[in-house]
Amino acid sequence: MKLICAKDYKGMCRQAANILSAQLIIKPDSVLGLATGSTPVGIYAQLIDWYNKGDLSFAEASSVNLDEYQGLAPDHPQSYRYFMQHHLFDHVDMRPEATHVPNGLADDSDAECKRYNQVIRSMNGVDLQLLGVGHNGHIAFNEPGEAFELETHLVPLAPTTVEANKRFFDSVDDVPTHAYSMGVKSIMSAKKILLMVSGKDKAAVLAKAFSGPVTPEIPASVLQLHPNVVIVGDHDALHLL
Ligand code: GLP
Repeated sequence: MKLICAKDYKGMCRQAANILSAQLIIKPDSVLGLATGSTPVGIYAQLIDWYNKGDLSFAEASSVNLDEYQGLAPDHPQSYRYFMQHHLFDHVDMRPEATHVPNGLADDSDAECKRYNQVIRSMNGVDLQLLGVGHNGHIAFNEPGEAFELETHLVPLAPTTVEANKRFFDSVDDVPTHAYSMGVKSIMSAKKILLMVSGKDKAAVLAKAFSGPVTPEIPASVLQLHPNVVIVGDHDALHLL
């Protein structure tokens, strides 16, 4: 595991964007595992900036996103498909058909999970997986207590996750209660994982995840077992490690 400590959020985004752009330069047809949440926003902004300067291209790359709320349409402002369009895809040259996000409106959730697993398999694996972490240690929407061997599945969201994400909705009642999420098994299959963490409020869970035992109670702790993890964070988030 490699740890990169930046002094602040801006520095952290630059470091993480550097790793992602190096991946695209070394392998232009990389499969990128992409994440949502407030943490990666600055990374995507940095990548768009470099793309606009002609330093970077996504033309041959493809992407699979970690998760999507069940019940939200792709054009719902809080859906993760909308987030990705708004924060990255609409501004770079990635082919629209090469970007993948679970379908929040699928009628049959089992079929949707199977379809998404098939999409991931058909790409021969993710080259670089971006990840954030929730306050309870969740990665993607793998909540505490879930089995590590799951692939894409439908997750009932923990009350703390609904609470944490209500800031993006008009009221807590509008926050979806379920989400499609890549499972820990899918995430651990990525060749390289880039975990981004920012802010004092993530310091305690990060210390538990990387200084404590590997346990489904702290899903991010499984990353201790991955052979190629880079944690990029700001000092506030990393100071307890
Ligand atoms: C959501 C997402 C996760 C993300 C987490 C933390 O629950 N499903 O992928 O890592 O939020 O988000 P933030 O970066 O906003 O703290």
